[in-house]
Amino acid sequence: MTSRIIDPGSTIGVLGGGQLGRMFAMAARRLGYRVHTFAPEHDTPTGQIADVEVVASYDDVERVREFATAVDVVTFEFENVPAAAAAAAEEVAIVRPNGGALEVAQHRIREKRFLTSRGLPVAPYAEVRSEADLAGGLEHVGRPSVLKTAALGYDGKGQVSIHPGTDPVGAWNSLGRKECVIESFIDLEREISVIGARGVDGVTSFFQPFDNTHRHHILDVTVAPADIPARAAADAIEITRSVLEGLNYVGILCVEFFVARDGRLLVNEIAPRPHNSGHLTFDACRTSQFEQQVRAICGFHLGATDLLQPAAMVNLLGDLWSDGEPDWAAALALPDVKLHLYGKASARPGRKMGHLTVLAPTREQARDRALTARRLLAPEYAVRAHL
Ligand SMILES: Nc1ncnc2c1ncn2[C@@H]1O[C@H](COP(=O)(O)OP(=O)(O)O)[C@@H](O)[C@H]1O
Ligand SMILES: [Mg+2]
Repeated sequence: MTSRIIDPGSTIGVLGGGQLGRMFAMAARRLGYRVHTFAPEHDTPTGQIADVEVVASYDDVERVREFATAVDVVTFEFENVPAAAAAAAEEVAIVRPNGGALEVAQHRIREKRFLTSRGLPVAPYAEVRSEADLAGGLEHVGRPSVLKTAALGYDGKGQVSIHPGTDPVGAWNSLGRKECVIESFIDLEREISVIGARGVDGVTSFFQPFDNTHRHHILDVTVAPADIPARAAADAIEITRSVLEGLNYVGILCVEFFVARDGRLLVNEIAPRPHNSGHLTFDACRTSQFEQQVRAICGFHLGATDLLQPAAMVNLLGDLWSDGEPDWAAALALPDVKLHLYGKASARPGRKMGHLTVLAPTREQARDRALTARRLLAPEYAVRAHL
């Protein structure tokens, strides 16, 4: 792998076609790059912004190799690209982050082994490949606990809770008896995330931790800065630095943390790409997570990550469309509200369609204002769903 600069005017290839790639492509194009995207669907959120949209399966290694040959650097917006596809790209192109990092982050067992091997704190867990593992694992982690498929989970999919009355084998059956981890359910004080980047030269840079609230296991609201002691923020950043270094990472990455009520700071999971909790950086930070990814993978110095003002981001899920098209004019009548939509044609429940960001003098004001704007989009739904 060379460390030459990939200058503006060059072409960046993005494996994946979702909103993360879309916002990455916007940042890359602003910096003067061309963008190619590769995904199994046509007219994707990324494809709408990219110069070239390749529609093919990630399993089509020959198409991946062809795609990588046509660009100057390959990156990811989707972490579940098969290892064989990443390896094929690496044969013919610079790939950042490296395929090995992706393999660790896309598989909960490899991820937890990696974290514990570096002495980083995770919830008590066990690996599950058989009913005997399940019984032994449950003994170790206790109840309540959560059983999660090792691969291909997102937005709470591929997870079941194990309560005092739950039949563990039934729970495992409901996940298709796939390879899993079982982990203790943590009594959460809050959830935070740290987004960090590492350049080709090994220099790292971090956004201050963000505060994340989930609804039905899907991120709902992010507030910055997180309301946590300086010590906890520094610890979370040091852990993120260790992850970046341990993976020999080049690019942007997010570490999700649990802050337990007893004060423990535990790593939940690693996302080897821009992260939903970093969407507010687009409007609220000097450098967005997407520009930071461009800088990192193209060999530049990393940008300043300071927060310009306290900020909040609320997700707009497909559920908001249940009474018809949201009232965009009502939300945009608030002049401080920034609306981001991802260009997705169909609004299914739980599907991430867009988000709103608000900057304000305090984080509480930013949060209230963003929530108000979302209610204005679909007032009747908001009442029914207690938004
Ligand atoms: N062990 C746990 N204890 C408490 N809450 C959990 C636990 N595991 C998951 N959750 C909740 O579910 C959310 C989604 O789980 P996560 O493992 O991050 O999967 P995903 O890949 O879907 O983001 C978490 O952000 C958290 O709110
Ligand atoms: Mg998560």
